[in-house]
Amino acid sequence: MKIFLDTANLEAIRKFNDMGLLDGITTNPSLMSKEGGNPKDIMKEITKIIKGDVSLEVLSSKYSGMIEEGKRLHQYGKNVVVKVPMTSDGLKACKHLSSEGIPVNVTLVFSPNQALLAAKSGAKYVSPFIGRLDDIGQDGMHLIKEIKQIFSNYDFGTKILVASIRHPIHVVDAAKIGADVVTLPPAVLDKMIQHPLTDIGLENFLSDWEKLKARNPNMQI
Ligand code: E4P
Repeated sequence: MKIFLDTANLEAIRKFNDMGLLDGITTNPSLMSKEGGNPKDIMKEITKIIKGDVSLEVLSSKYSGMIEEGKRLHQYGKNVVVKVPMTSDGLKACKHLSSEGIPVNVTLVFSPNQALLAAKSGAKYVSPFIGRLDDIGQDGMHLIKEIKQIFSNYDFGTKILVASIRHPIHVVDAAKIGADVVTLPPAVLDKMIQHPLTDIGLENFLSDWEKLKARNPNMQI
């Protein structure tokens, strides 16, 4: 399963990329608005830091505007994937951009039928938002199971990119289902690294080593 970071924060992107954890990035207008500076420069910088796919979202809700913006965004880097919303105009833009060789991520997907249609339109990625479904009392992970089952019956080539992830258990469940990609807020990725028994174990190892050093002051490893 690939891991993308769901952020436009360059510091977080560099931090996790230096650990070799990142296969790509997803951004959206809300994430961009949290960062200072020029959004265009930030987007370009992300495409340089990250070798894998970087999803950059269009702002227009009309087909012609999506095509214009999508083509501009694609100039920011060879690894740009244009993110379009799951609407009629979005699907038309998806078909057009995909047929010109510009990969598309169809976002704001909340039903199996939406995922099916995005795949039919040629999307490289479909982004079901599981956390937002959980928020309204529905089972977001069930949607991933349904999409996985539908896609496994056919040969679309569209990848399931699990979005709106809220906690590490979402990641475990997505991996068990066999989702292609999860996109994680930096805080969730941080939590996945940590375990209290790792901290206690390390503390014990180091204090035992100090005891050994007290007996053999010149010893080194
Ligand atoms: C995905 O591409 C979206 O940017 C993101 O996962 C949305 O998550 P949210 O529901 O936490 O805003």
